[in-house]
This record gives sequence, structure tokens and C-alpha cells, in this order.
Amino acid sequence: MSQLGNCKSLFNIYNTNMDFISVRDLNFRYEEKQILLSDISFDIKKGAYVAIVGKNGSGKSTLAKLLIGLETADSGTIEIDGVVLNDENIKHIRSRMGIVFQNPDNQFIGATVRDDIAFGLENRCCSKSDMALLIEQFSNKVGLEKLLDKEPEALSGGQKQRVAIAGVLAMQSDIIILDEATSMLDPRGRDTIKKLIRELHQDKELTIISITHDIEEAYTADDCIVLCDGKVFDHGKPEEVFKDAKRIRSVGLDVPFIGKVKEAFKNHGIVLDGNSEDEIIGELCEYTLKR
Ligand SMILES: Nc1ncnc2c1ncn2[C@@H]1O[C@H](COP(=O)(O)OP(=O)(O)OP(=O)(O)O)[C@@H](O)[C@H]1O
Ligand SMILES: [Mg+2]
Repeated sequence: MSQLGNCKSLFNIYNTNMDFISVRDLNFRYEEKQILLSDISFDIKKGAYVAIVGKNGSGKSTLAKLLIGLETADSGTIEIDGVVLNDENIKHIRSRMGIVFQNPDNQFIGATVRDDIAFGLENRCCSKSDMALLIEQFSNKVGLEKLLDKEPEALSGGQKQRVAIAGVLAMQSDIIILDEATSMLDPRGRDTIKKLIRELHQDKELTIISITHDIEEAYTADDCIVLCDGKVFDHGKPEEVFKDAKRIRSVGLDVPFIGKVKEAFKNHGIVLDGNSEDEIIGELCEYTLKR
């Protein structure tokens, strides 16, 4: 049971047997600009790890802002756990969600890293002792233990991303949206954070929406949503979404490593569509050794 368990029980009025997040016919434009998101519809199950991919400017971050109510759709609905988001309930529903923004500079409120992580917890019925525990626990997990008394502004981009991630994870929200949350981290830091998020996700209570340009990450998600020019180009299991390399490249995306291997075999007349990833790697080893 999490330290915030008692606080969370306040929200158990919601229905938990349906799609956890339901987006229907969402349309949005920034003020007088042309339509940016059009007819966006998708469902996300509770506990899913969903990747949202799409080339620059396809509308991913804007969609994230709509999901947490920072922007309001011109038409369409967003339903979270059976409740349609509106001006009255947005604050309440947002308290179940955490977001790491693409640009970590937009995220800081506290004067120090410690204060900043504490700020989110103060809004979540968290006692002082639990707060201290959570700050210590999550700052250690993301490698911030030596930076807790620093001003967030004085940190590097990657360190700032770590603070934003620690703050969001410490809040133990039901839904976490990560908007390219590890883009500035060094490779080892990125692996550590990815592993940590996967571990936290294992209990299937936590729903994760990861906006990413990392195709390998998207390939390991439960579901993948592809945005193209403000529309849902595809939504499904990654194996299906990335199956047709030509199609996925047509929307400016790359193909995961395993897809490239399949493609290379296909060019040599060997079709591996029905094979598992392990079988394909096996074939690759055999093929390489034979040469
Ligand atoms: N506040 C804003 N006002 C007006 N236009 C905006 C605003 N924010 C974003 N846009 C425009 O909306 C479009 C989509 O932007 P968005 O940030 O959602 O894309 P993205 O898919 O997240 O791209 P990236 O991969 O580069 O992060 C872009 O053309 C951008 O210029
Ligand atoms: Mg973005």
C-alpha cells in the first residue's frame, strides 16, 4: 500500500471496469490558427503502457496538454475513469495525474529540488514524515541525492528532467504522462529511469502514456498510437503498428531494429512475419555465422 493510499481512496467513487481513458472526436486549434488536432479518438485500459509517436509538430504535446486540461478542446470529450473532463472537475481529476513536460524548465515551482518535489506531495494529502520518505526514496532512485538543496534553475537539462521525473513518480499518481521525459538524459541515466518506470508499472495499477521518439521504447509498449498531422494514423499493438515498414516510414517514423532485420531478410527472399523476436534473432545469428 502506498504512502498516499488513504488519500487515493477518496477517489474510489470512480468506476474501474471500463476503459480508463476514453478520448472521443477531439478537435483543437490554437486560437486563430488552423485546426491542429482533428477527430482524435482512442481508448486506454487501466494499467496499460501506451506510447504516442509521431514526427515533430504532429500534435503529441498538445494532446498531452488536453489530457491534463491545460488546453480545452473545441469539441469532443475526454473521459477519465468514467468522468468526462470539464471545468468543474478538472482540478480533481488532475490530482490523479502526473506529467513530465517536454521542456523541464516549464515545470519548476520550488526554490530547491527538495521543495520542488515536496510541492506536488503537499497537494496530495501527504504527511510531513511520508513526504520526507518519498523525497528521499525517489531522489535516490533517479540519482538526485546530492542535488536536493540546489536551485532547479542551476541544474543541467538532464538533471532538471530527473527532478521532474522524481516529482511525478513520488506523487504516485494513477496516470503518468511522460512527454519525451528522458530526452536529455545520458544513455545510462535513460536506461535507469526507463527500468524504474517499468518496475513501477509492473503492478498494473499505474497507467503510463509515454510520448516518445524512441521507437525501441514504443515497440515494447502495450499499445502504440501514431499521430500524423494531428490525426490518429494508427493505434494498436506495436507488432501490428510497425509491421509495414514502408507505411510507417511514410509518416516520418523509423522502424524498430527487429523490423529492419525482417526487412533485410525479406530482401533476400526470407519472410519472417509469423516468427517471434527470439526466432528472428536466432535466424540472424545463424545467417551471419553461415556467411
Ligand atoms: N502555444 C501554442 N500556440 C500556437 N501554436 C502552437 C502552440 N504550441 C504548439 N503549437 C503548434 O502546434 C503544432 C504541434 O505542436 P506540438 O508541440 O503538439 O507537436 P509535437 O508532436 O509535440 O512535436 P515535437 O515532436 O517537436 O515535440 C506545431 O506546429 C506547433 O508550432
Ligand atoms: Mg512535443
